[in-house]
Amino acid sequence: MAYNKSLPLVDLHRHLDGNIRASTIWQLAEKNHIELPANSLEELMPHVQIQKSEPDLLTFLAKLDWGVKVLATLDDVKRVAYENVEDAYNAGLHYTELRFSPYYMAMTHKLPVADVVAAVVDGINLGIKDFPVQVKLLGILSRTFGVEHCTEELNGILTHKDEITGIDLAGDELNFPGELFIDLFKTARDANMRITVHAGEAAGPESVWQAINLLGAERIGHGVNSYKDQALLDHMVKYNIGLESCLTSNYQTGTVKDLSLHPIKQFLANGNLVCLNTDDPAVENTEIKQEFNLAQQVLGFDHDQFTTLQENAVKMSFTSDTEKQALLQLTRHS
Ligand code: HPA
Ligand code: ZN
Repeated sequence: MAYNKSLPLVDLHRHLDGNIRASTIWQLAEKNHIELPANSLEELMPHVQIQKSEPDLLTFLAKLDWGVKVLATLDDVKRVAYENVEDAYNAGLHYTELRFSPYYMAMTHKLPVADVVAAVVDGINLGIKDFPVQVKLLGILSRTFGVEHCTEELNGILTHKDEITGIDLAGDELNFPGELFIDLFKTARDANMRITVHAGEAAGPESVWQAINLLGAERIGHGVNSYKDQALLDHMVKYNIGLESCLTSNYQTGTVKDLSLHPIKQFLANGNLVCLNTDDPAVENTEIKQEFNLAQQVLGFDHDQFTTLQENAVKMSFTSDTEKQALLQLTRHS
């Protein structure tokens, strides 16, 4: 098995709205009388799951759309949140941070954004009663929809801020640079939100610098293109800014054309805090153990590197030191 079993399995970069089961999309479409571009679940698969890889990030992201288009009621939202906890547990995770964009989930059927946040929180709370996995929630501002909708998202998230640990910026990185969101991230930090930002995926290292210097990112989602700027890598080492790597996702978005050349090797060699994650498990047809297998088979990682990656994930998690210690104790003797 390609991971260290005496350390917890953690997935810090996992989109709840990128992990809506195809079978649930099928059932919700039927219940809500929503027409799908398919006559069977099998026919639906290529519309909701990447087959091999896509030419770019936006084509990849379009595969998430059916998952949110079938969310016609708050109960539907609650259901997919609950099922996300079940999936995380079944994947063998001990701890995960589930992120979601409330506006993206709300927009098709014009659900109130703050109510979508509440429904996700409800679904998660029901889920963790049934499945023993630790879950924290991160609210996403979807840059694709512009600053106004992101403001609406942040307001909805902050309405339930006691249940949300942090804020992320996701979506169309090329056309909506971090500098547009400075004020929103200041508001988020003032509300004691932890900060992670998708950067250096579709855009270059300058986008990662913006995430750190303008938005206050403590972690970077993907950060693939950081390898092009040694000063940036060293800055991230110095200030303990973690990189959330997602191998399958980076291949499927066309960000990394040859996985054997993924810069995670360089990040580790440079002493950067980096860990393995899934991103959008259902859309990518992956899970965390598969990401570790890939790291072994395609990158040639060994047990020591898995140990570092898993220890890094715990260090990078948005939890207290006490919770991190408890998490490490969970698996130490098992
Ligand atoms: N990048 C940006 N936005 C996203 C991603 C991603 O990889 N996955 C889901 N939303
Ligand atoms: Zn992501």
